[in-house]
Amino acid sequence: MISTEKIEAAKEKFGQLLEQQLLRVEEMKLQGDFIDYNTLEQIKIGVCGGDGIGPAITAQAQRVLEYLLKDEIKGGKVVFEIIEGLTIERRAEEKAAIPPAVLEELKKCHVILKGPTTTPRKGDPWPNVESANVAMRKELDLFANVRPVRIPEQGIDWTFYRENTEGAYAVGSKGVHVTEDLGVDFTVVTSQGTERIIRAAFEFAKANGKTRVTAVTKANIIKTTDGKFLDIFREIAKEYPDITSDDWYIDIMTAKLVDEKRRKDFQVVVLPNLYGDIITDEAAEFQGGVGTAGSANIGKKYAMFEAIHGSAPRMVQEGRDIYADPCSMIRAGAMLLAHIGYIKEADKLYQALDICTITEKKVILTGRDTGATSAEFADYLMETIENLA
Ligand code: IPM
Ligand code: MG
Repeated sequence: MISTEKIEAAKEKFGQLLEQQLLRVEEMKLQGDFIDYNTLEQIKIGVCGGDGIGPAITAQAQRVLEYLLKDEIKGGKVVFEIIEGLTIERRAEEKAAIPPAVLEELKKCHVILKGPTTTPRKGDPWPNVESANVAMRKELDLFANVRPVRIPEQGIDWTFYRENTEGAYAVGSKGVHVTEDLGVDFTVVTSQGTERIIRAAFEFAKANGKTRVTAVTKANIIKTTDGKFLDIFREIAKEYPDITSDDWYIDIMTAKLVDEKRRKDFQVVVLPNLYGDIITDEAAEFQGGVGTAGSANIGKKYAMFEAIHGSAPRMVQEGRDIYADPCSMIRAGAMLLAHIGYIKEADKLYQALDICTITEKKVILTGRDTGATSAEFADYLMETIENLA
């Protein structure tokens, strides 16, 4: 028996989703340009430790940034603000992806350094609150998830521009169980949301001497939303005649990234949310794992920088959080520095990270007491920076 009542209830929910998404379109239409950090009297950096090993590694990243920005801090040009409360316990208690008081504090900052936060899944002891990352990306409209992967010795220098607020994530926690037997999720694409991410990818390419931008979709099957993404990509590409543009389907792209002869050719890759989520983990794996990668979440008004790995609660349970590798958070910190205009400081930090983790490796992290603590590694990194100058 087909239940008309259930279909009507599902339509009602669908209607509400559409209303919310259309409101978002109107908001995007009103959006101004990117904030110019040069014009600010003071740049406020919010620091959220998150869960699990988050507070331990974020604290080390903060130490390194404070060291690199010591003159700016002294002169009052930069301030750090610790924001407490973005923890799974507090989020569970308040049944909120981000507790409202925390969100209010976040909105007072210009940029945010954020440690990993726990995302509850079915079977966990926590209520099913939405991922804090996803919520923050939406609340602060951080539409561009920029994830670089570099392996110089293999000629790999990729920058992924993952759309961060739409696609399968836009209403990911608002699917509909129409009946006991039928579940439906939604994927969302808008002209405004697609244009801004594609333009950001081309502008990055132009500003950084990149000669190729690649779009990744599954437009042969997901015809409406991925089709729209690809159409807009092709339109915007015409505005950048000096940059080669091409497009691949996600399945073959996943294969091509493993193809050692072809993968070097990719430079800037722009893609919808879920494909970006998947392929950036694959890409990071070539670089040494998700633990080595930092990620920038950039919007016109706010920007947030984070590691792409999880909160590793087991390390904390076993008392090993002081031995956690802080490199991903420190890399996120380097992206933050570059984003707010401290390019020289960011370059020094990248250079020191290469020395400390590849060429010299005088302090080794093993994740347990057989190796150095995160704080010892950060000391080594700062000494290395000191000796660069
Ligand atoms: C990422 C993560 C998140 C995502 C999770 C933790 C919600 O995998 O940043 O890639 O899916 O976006
Ligand atoms: Mg991911």
